[in-house]
Amino acid sequence: MTVIKKAVFPVAGMGTRFLPATKATPKEMLPVVDKPLIQYAVEEAVAAGVNELIFVTSSNKRAIEDHFDRHYELEKRLEEAGKDEFLSIVRDVLPKGVSCSYVRQAEPLGLGHAVLCAESLVGSEPFAVILADDLIANDGPLCLSQMVAEYNNKQADCVLAVQEVPEQDTNKYGIVATEQSGRVTYMVEKPKPENAPSRQAVVGRYILSAEVFKALRNTAKGAGGEIQLTDAIAAVLKNQWVLAYEFAGKRYDCGSKLGFLEATLDYALDHPELGQACQEYLQKRFKSV
Ligand code: G1P
Repeated sequence: MTVIKKAVFPVAGMGTRFLPATKATPKEMLPVVDKPLIQYAVEEAVAAGVNELIFVTSSNKRAIEDHFDRHYELEKRLEEAGKDEFLSIVRDVLPKGVSCSYVRQAEPLGLGHAVLCAESLVGSEPFAVILADDLIANDGPLCLSQMVAEYNNKQADCVLAVQEVPEQDTNKYGIVATEQSGRVTYMVEKPKPENAPSRQAVVGRYILSAEVFKALRNTAKGAGGEIQLTDAIAAVLKNQWVLAYEFAGKRYDCGSKLGFLEATLDYALDHPELGQACQEYLQKRFKSV
């Protein structure tokens, strides 16, 4: 059984869709109820067995480094005040035995370029990529854990999380064509509906082989004038077994305001302390409309 030990988190994007909230705060630090998006992503990776977190950052992302660092002053104050519950919340942000590294993406050249920036930290082993914008909830094992199991069961070289999207939305995603077995035969970034090979869209979870780095080095600018991860995977699938995996769970597109709001509502409704009060508020709110 192969354990995926490293996960890459591309977090260099500007988050323009959430301005002004993201003027001085990274979009990955926006909280869904009480936890920043990036922490959900990290928790999903750690639950899947990852113990090396690699963040691809840019300027203005210091808050992410601070979030996953120790905060001795705060810990000391909470300790002195006997606020043990808060103390463990602060300490558990980064579980024991998990390390973080940071590499800068100096220019915004696209997701493929961001992943390539992590090459020297990843080395030659298979690794995961998680886009924190895509928040995926599930009652059972989370998406990356499901993918690691699939990766091992099927002995695939790469696994991509996919879900069906409405026809008019194919131009927002990497779209795959697959065989019955799930093997990806073709992949294209953000095709117009009339050119899309299917409605199966890649969402922000990947298990990739180091072959992808080689392909990325030879990948020219693609859709949107950016170096696309999709194009590198499309090159790799000619020689490697790339599997599309329809995960169990609900995905929220937290890169969009509506998706973010939906996540906030659902997580609040499911929250052990807030759920009941939130439901009562919503019922009252809609009765008075
Ligand atoms: C990126 C990828 C795309 C993928 C999407 C999932 O696009 O390039 O292939 O389907 O994430 O969220 P972005 O949303 O960064 O434009």
